[in-house]
Amino acid sequence: MSSKATNAMNATGGRHSGEWGSADYRDAIQALCLGGLKDVNLILASNRGPVEFRKSASGSLRQQRGQGGLVTALSSMVECMDTTWIAAPFTEADAKMGEVTLPMGNRNLSLAFVDVDPEDYRRFYDEISNAHLWFLQHGISHAPEHPEFDDEAWRSWESYRRVNLRFAQAIARKARQSTKRPLIMVHDYHLYLVPLFLRQILPDAVIHHFTHICWPGPDLWWQLPAVMRQDVMTSLTSCDVVGFHTPRYTRNFLNTVTEVLGYPVDPGAGLVEAPGRRVWVRDYPISIDPDGIQRFAESPAVRAVEAELGLESSGLNIVQVARTDPSKNLLRSLKALDLFLQRQPNRRGTVKFWGILPASRQGSEPYRSYLDQIWEGVQAVNRRHARPGWEPVTVFLENSYPRAIAVMKHYDILLVNSLADGMNLVAKEGPMVNLRDGVLLLSETVGAADELKDGALLINPYDLHGMADAFENGLAMEPREKRRKLTLLQGSIQANPVHRWVYEQLLDLEARLQPRIRVSSFFPATEIHPTDPDVRKRG
Ligand code: G6P
Repeated sequence: MSSKATNAMNATGGRHSGEWGSADYRDAIQALCLGGLKDVNLILASNRGPVEFRKSASGSLRQQRGQGGLVTALSSMVECMDTTWIAAPFTEADAKMGEVTLPMGNRNLSLAFVDVDPEDYRRFYDEISNAHLWFLQHGISHAPEHPEFDDEAWRSWESYRRVNLRFAQAIARKARQSTKRPLIMVHDYHLYLVPLFLRQILPDAVIHHFTHICWPGPDLWWQLPAVMRQDVMTSLTSCDVVGFHTPRYTRNFLNTVTEVLGYPVDPGAGLVEAPGRRVWVRDYPISIDPDGIQRFAESPAVRAVEAELGLESSGLNIVQVARTDPSKNLLRSLKALDLFLQRQPNRRGTVKFWGILPASRQGSEPYRSYLDQIWEGVQAVNRRHARPGWEPVTVFLENSYPRAIAVMKHYDILLVNSLADGMNLVAKEGPMVNLRDGVLLLSETVGAADELKDGALLINPYDLHGMADAFENGLAMEPREKRRKLTLLQGSIQANPVHRWVYEQLLDLEARLQPRIRVSSFFPATEIHPTDPDVRKRG
């Protein structure tokens, strides 16, 4: 471990102090893996696994990296601990595979696909996870019509419970097979009920849950029938550590605990006093690997796309990279662009909007109709403003990471205008690869705004005039100011790499693995841990 990391850890009892970079956090993770976590078997559970398998036409099996940033985020843990990853099968080949061992760094990762009934899975993923929970937590339900809990919705809830139970049983099986102490990390809104079931099977396991999306205040949770919201909250408060991206989500969570369950909470220390258990509620802002993405930006795959699209010699580019998800606000992006081109006719023919918009969750109706509307919006803007040899909007609906990175290297404006987003990693990826001192327009309602607001132009995602003005202000910004803002963004992203997200969670989990003691405390007699923050506070 670097001496900077060792000194800082000694000085702070583990949490970093001062400016660490990726390498320091990596070293510190390694030190934890060789120290307090050396006798641990990490069991991760998430809906999507780190890889997907597909059979090619010739019958051979192809392995593809799973979609999403979670794989990158978790790989630094997996590379230094014995890990089992439990995931849902996404392809027929996954389902047939059952279990497989994959090399990860110097270790082997054991990947196990859960055996789930396909109809249960459809209801769990398309209905409860993506139509109900996603809409509720992003505050984008259209309340006069949605949500609606009819017989179908209750049937889907039963499926959600069964899939969560399957995950819990698979985790418990792995935990029992292991000779080392299990450390269980459960990810995201698909798996809210896993801790509840798991706690019944493994009462003493250390269980962590991380929610990767927004956690709204209690009012929105009233959109769920009482049984459902109580199940979710009882489950999460049976964990040892519960993680979110921002302090605002942890506050919202603590308020939701109070209102739904009535358990005592200590917002200052981030604690919930659940029956027989003290739960730590913490914010760990997720991030990217800044060095890794810069290396990837120079790879042949990315360079080939730059050449194919003529990006290096292109004019001014407004870029948006987002799944076709109603929370991403793509219809207003197109309306704001339309307004901008009406108000700034001199920009016609010189500015292009590139939408890298992978079609998402097309098994679910609201996402299908949203994609249709996006397509209509693109055609309307192109019809209105096109000139011979120039169209204002070019959109790609296929998922291609090299293409997303290639286009972001050449943005003059990067538009991140989500209505809500737990974090939004595009806002961190873009500034690390951009070659033009481009300007980030960032919605004030996304998690990333906490860290990046000083280097971005903040926008209100509902305000079309505000967005159209921001396009012009960003394009007309003085070169020195653009450079200053980009440097601020890059500095902040480098100081908060994904390895920090990993390290700080592992540090808290290591503390929770230590033997528990019984003391009387701030709350009535309960089982607490010597490193609980309020114990430290009281000296
Ligand atoms: C976004 C969210 C993640 C979530 C993922 C699921 O990236 O931030 O929290 O797990 O979507 O997407 P999927 O394509 O698997 O439905």
